[in-house]
Amino acid sequence: MQGYRVLVGVGGGIAAYKVCEVVSALAKEGVEVRTVLTDAAQEFVTPLTFATLSRHSAYGDRDFWQPVHGRPLHIELGEWADVFLLAPLTANTLAKLAHGMADNLLTNTVLASTCPVLLAPAMNTDMWEQAAVQRNWQQVQQDPRYHTLAPGSGLLACDRVGAGRMAEPAEILPYVRSLLQTQGDRDLAGKSILISAGGTREFLDPVRFIGNPSTGKMGIALAQAAHHRGAKVTLVHAPTAIEAVRTLLGVQCIAVVTAADMRQAMRDHFSHADWTIMAAAVADVKPAYCSPEKLPKSDLPASLPLAPVPDIVAELAKLKQPHQRLVGFAAQTGDIVTPAKEKLVRKQLDAIAANPIDQPNSGFGSDTNQAVFLDRHGRQHFINQPCSKLSMAHQLLDFIQAIV
Ligand code: C5P
Repeated sequence: MQGYRVLVGVGGGIAAYKVCEVVSALAKEGVEVRTVLTDAAQEFVTPLTFATLSRHSAYGDRDFWQPVHGRPLHIELGEWADVFLLAPLTANTLAKLAHGMADNLLTNTVLASTCPVLLAPAMNTDMWEQAAVQRNWQQVQQDPRYHTLAPGSGLLACDRVGAGRMAEPAEILPYVRSLLQTQGDRDLAGKSILISAGGTREFLDPVRFIGNPSTGKMGIALAQAAHHRGAKVTLVHAPTAIEAVRTLLGVQCIAVVTAADMRQAMRDHFSHADWTIMAAAVADVKPAYCSPEKLPKSDLPASLPLAPVPDIVAELAKLKQPHQRLVGFAAQTGDIVTPAKEKLVRKQLDAIAANPIDQPNSGFGSDTNQAVFLDRHGRQHFINQPCSKLSMAHQLLDFIQAIV
């Protein structure tokens, strides 16, 4: 993420301490981060904290009229930013945004900038649920500049249990990274995208199963990227992905365990999907017999009779309407291109993403990946160096978008 510039606007809420983690993570990735704090924010965290974490200046209202290179600070900062994150967004700053007010450095900088703005509000439940606050929240969402991470529910610092908890850094960070890549473009607005993720489990008895090392990270990155670009996303995920899906806001998540469950869920949602992407590592075989009771060790068969599992993506291909696009994955060792071409044709897919699982920093469980994308017209796109799974997800969405 070298060369990208993120401006972080911090409001006066206790969640400001979590924004330190966001700034630190972005700075470690090579993003240039500058910070603007309101006076109230400085009651919780000091500008020095952010300046130290980001290795860049952090500004408050006392700097407002200190020109930089002879130009007003809010103009300099507004023009400098690629993405502006406001977190925690207080009820007060939200109200100012809704009405276009500018009475401090932070709100002046919002008006002096044109980049995408990501809003992550945090406040007490009664404050969040006030009709006036909800009105302002609806109002800002009318403005395409503003991207939003609605607060979650939980135990708040004021001891209330309810809505108002700021989105976690694990939710904020991928959104910021997406906005840096897309400049906030909602090019998938109006599209329904169905995605599968994770490794399915095929049980021999209640405690033993055939599985695989898939963690679901690639499918989750695809769900995030598609959601950040405005799509309506449904994610069918196997148990290995269950921890990671907790960080997915705004995505309909359906938990399944076996390939049979996944097949049913995919078939249930397929007809509403414009695009379907099968990133899941689905079992190819299952134990021919599944005991409802735990088998004693002495009863375990010396060799396991296996039965085939239906190929979900190949079945979906037969149900596909002309306007729909269907994309598969192929996890491969050795030559990844030849088997992927064969699968693309045999499964009647529109495109396939073939990724090596025998290369460092790629494949199962890794946060990075590399791949070749192929489409049915012979178009190819190579990612030859490991990149983040989120970046690969955006590249795959671009590739699908360009299928004619
Ligand atoms: O044939 P192979 O398992 O390598 O193909 C991988 C692709 O097929 C992936 O998109 C995977 O999700 C899908 N698949 C499937 N049903 C299966 C096995 C794989 O949809 N039973």
